[in-house]
Amino acid sequence: MPIEEPEYIWLDGKFVKWSEAKVPVLTHALHYGTGVFEGLRAYPSDGNLLVFRLEDHIRRLMNSAKIYFMEPKYSAKELTNAVLETLRINKIKTSAYIRPIIFVGYGGIGLNWTGFPLQYAIAAFPYGKYFDKPELKVCISSWRRISDQSTPPQAKATGNYINSVLSKLDALRNGYDDAVLLDQRGYVSEGTGENIFVVKNGRMYTPSPASSILEGITRDSVMHLSKELEVQVTERDVARTELYIADEVFFTGTAAEVTAIIEVDRRAIGNGSMGKVTKRIRDSYLKAVLGEDSRHKDWVTPVY
Ligand SMILES: Cc1ncc(COP(=O)(O)O)c(C=O)c1O
Repeated sequence: MPIEEPEYIWLDGKFVKWSEAKVPVLTHALHYGTGVFEGLRAYPSDGNLLVFRLEDHIRRLMNSAKIYFMEPKYSAKELTNAVLETLRINKIKTSAYIRPIIFVGYGGIGLNWTGFPLQYAIAAFPYGKYFDKPELKVCISSWRRISDQSTPPQAKATGNYINSVLSKLDALRNGYDDAVLLDQRGYVSEGTGENIFVVKNGRMYTPSPASSILEGITRDSVMHLSKELEVQVTERDVARTELYIADEVFFTGTAAEVTAIIEVDRRAIGNGSMGKVTKRIRDSYLKAVLGEDSRHKDWVTPVY
């Protein structure tokens, strides 16, 4: 989806014009997927802009880097400040998406990147909805989710997304809005860029980290909010057919926020429209990101 290109990119500690933010063709990460990144959102509220769970995203970025032996020269605090500065220098006041990335640069050729430079970039730009509709029709992907035995899903690594791309393109070409991937054991894992929740008899279930998921920050937020709404949520293995006979199913993610799934493999979920629990969770999530939930003021960081 096209975006409004930002004026400035934070690149290796300096702000450079978009047109000058360039990397060599032989950048290691371009060839081998050796990058780790984050996706954050900022929301306008009361004349300010609020970044949602900024420190948690930067912590996950550092953890992703650790899995791949990357030792960033910037601290979490410096990267956190750089995110805020990137929003400020681009004078962003509307809903925005923020993409920090740490990647292996050019230092020669070959897999062993020891001694190659790490590069750092942050892009921030105005951004609306990820899905063009509030209710999705999805399929179970014929592609399996990558596993901890190959390319660990717990690292938000650029190379991991080739698995999501295969799955997403197949789903779209077959007339669905997105896909749900099963883990290597055949249990439900997650969407192409979203975690998944099932609602049955007033309780919620979601696959655990052992099901090859990326532990989403929205997922964590929703688990907190559901407890406050007195909806019990359990992390456990979820079988494919549980989706077909669920009362409600929904996706969570920074980009996707809380989005209802109303059809899985051409089977209507519940009454075929967004369910009550999904709506309550979605509303309380939107309140939290706007800084309107007094219990979760610490989840938002003002930019200005
Ligand atoms: C594969 C995958 N799973 C889950 C998520 C949801 O994570 P979060 O809620 O932290 O955005 C994302 C998005 O980052 C993702 O790419």
